[in-house]
Amino acid sequence: MKKILAIYGSPRRQGNTTLLLNQAVQGALDAGAQVEKVVLRDLKMSSCLEIYGCKETGRCVIQDDFQGVSNQLLACHGLMLASPIFFYTVSAHTKILMDRCQSLWIKKYWVDKIPLGQRDLKRKGLFISVGATRGKRLFEGTLLTLKYFFDILDAELWKALLYRGLDFEGDVLKHPEYLQEAYGTGKEFALAVQT
Ligand SMILES: Cc1cc2nc3c(=O)[nH]c(=O)nc-3n(C[C@H](O)[C@H](O)[C@H](O)COP(=O)(O)O)c2cc1C
Repeated sequence: MKKILAIYGSPRRQGNTTLLLNQAVQGALDAGAQVEKVVLRDLKMSSCLEIYGCKETGRCVIQDDFQGVSNQLLACHGLMLASPIFFYTVSAHTKILMDRCQSLWIKKYWVDKIPLGQRDLKRKGLFISVGATRGKRLFEGTLLTLKYFFDILDAELWKALLYRGLDFEGDVLKHPEYLQEAYGTGKEFALAVQT
């Protein structure tokens, strides 16, 4: 069976993106998918130290929880990623993971020498994000960052669920329609990943 990895990027345990991702995960499980969860705030993960210890093998040389997450990322067929908007980009927890994946970028483009721009999409991605404000451009920076992160993982952005105007922990509970949408999307995602 194809695997889905669900990555929680909020520092809050019961934050808005967490509650939305929980719904998406439940939808996927109800569709029969196998889902593994990673809660970034529970991991010990250094930021990228830019020492390029990865340059020969594409394997990061910093020994911490990134090693396990890296294996999970490479083993999954579907990636659900949830992050709040912090200063118009992803949370620091999420960005640390993205930066550590520079080792996978090195593997792909320097070690395996895949030509830039050559696309072999092996994974599907679902991105969930939330911001407090309502600006039209709220998610623009984040979506650009995400595009290049997904490129490293040979993942296509299958769908993004983006919600404005949610600030305090649990604000999303006032919008059962958002939670319902996340559940339904998780179900559809699981089916899309299987095909
Ligand atoms: C450090 C920090 C930076 C933030 N930056 C933004 C921002 O640039 N734009 C915005 O609309 N909301 C911003 N917010 C608000 C969060 O996006 C909002 O509270 C969101 O609901 C948090 O999601 P979570 O509960 O899943 O962590 C920021 C919050 C924090 C703590």
